Amino acid sequence: MRSPPETSELDTPSRILMGPGPSMIHPRVLRAMSTQALGYMDPSFLEIMDDIQELLRYTFQTDNEWTLATSGTGTAAMETAIGNLLEPGETMLVRTTAYWGDRMAQMARRVGGDVASLDVSPTEPLDPADVREAFEAHDVDVFGICHADTTTGIRQPNMSELVDIAREHDAYTIADCVTSLSGVPVHVDDWGVDVAYGSPQKCLSSTPGATPLTINERAREKIEARDSDPASWYLDLNLLMEYWGDERNYHHTPPTTPYYGLREALRLVAEEGLENRWERHRRVAGELKAGLEDMGLEMAAAEEHWLPSLNTVRVPDGVDDTAVIQFLMDEYDIEIASGLGELDGEIWRIGCMGYSARRQNVACLLTAMQDALEAQGFDVDEAAIEA
Ligand SMILES: Cc1ncc(COP(=O)(O)O)c(C=O)c1O
Repeated sequence: MRSPPETSELDTPSRILMGPGPSMIHPRVLRAMSTQALGYMDPSFLEIMDDIQELLRYTFQTDNEWTLATSGTGTAAMETAIGNLLEPGETMLVRTTAYWGDRMAQMARRVGGDVASLDVSPTEPLDPADVREAFEAHDVDVFGICHADTTTGIRQPNMSELVDIAREHDAYTIADCVTSLSGVPVHVDDWGVDVAYGSPQKCLSSTPGATPLTINERAREKIEARDSDPASWYLDLNLLMEYWGDERNYHHTPPTTPYYGLREALRLVAEEGLENRWERHRRVAGELKAGLEDMGLEMAAAEEHWLPSLNTVRVPDGVDDTAVIQFLMDEYDIEIASGLGELDGEIWRIGCMGYSARRQNVACLLTAMQDALEAQGFDVDEAAIEA
């Protein structure tokens, strides 16, 4: 017999989470998540699902009937969107040069789709002229857009314009709102996007595992009329909606605790009000940005595309980005992150999301950052004077 391993009771360090996600969980969400489990057909649990759907419609600003939580992370919601909307042999247009666009492209290929590449710079927002050109060059069925790019800290403007281009070509649009939902304005119905998904662990400050997803009537009709079933049984929306809709047929056992957490997180959004919440993210992240710039640091994203929930900051010459990250963690218990892919070593990624988006966290991070930079020999005062 194998003997049991030696472990101790869970005792995690107390971190301030200012990275690209997860953000810190709101205390009310933590309390909701310590609630006892219910059966998946318990009328009380079904009421919780109804509440989640109604609160999500508010948060996405949509009337979509097919609005639900995916049992999985943002990647599962992305895969649900693509795996249901795109049929084998159809073409998906995405910016393959960008981190999330590349992930969408991989998923599209796995479900038997073709990929049309928008081969444009990943560090600028999509230009409607490039998108129009790509639609003219390819017969596109589904267009994937990342609204808030967690790798570059860029917010995509012109969402309605991009969606309109797709509509003019009879194509459907999927919007990745993982890093924007409830942190910066998201208007699913006004934009006209057909499918959108978010994240529970970013600006909503809940736990991963129950991910917001919404599908409009147009996309629903396409999905209901598919020639073949989606390759994934687990993520098949026609089956899933038999549980989320009036039929209430068992599909899978939902992750109870993340559902409780999501419901409470969404209640907090409704209490604060979306406009106030967007304004808070902007104000608190604005203080962060101003403080960093005062130290002589430079933001990587242009002011007009700045994404308050995810701030990208250039690593100054001569400074070791990972040493700074480690210093913040060791000396101040603060998490920030390095750049991904080509931006590794070039930028830091500093999140300002949900319950983490508070002035006290920003004040602490600015002090810690100054200390970390000075430990690296970067003269903060000199740089600030030069800046
Ligand atoms: C823009 C974007 N899309 C998708 C994902 C994937 O989400 P998850 O890590 O929850 O699977 C992330 C994760 O950070 C993201 O930032």
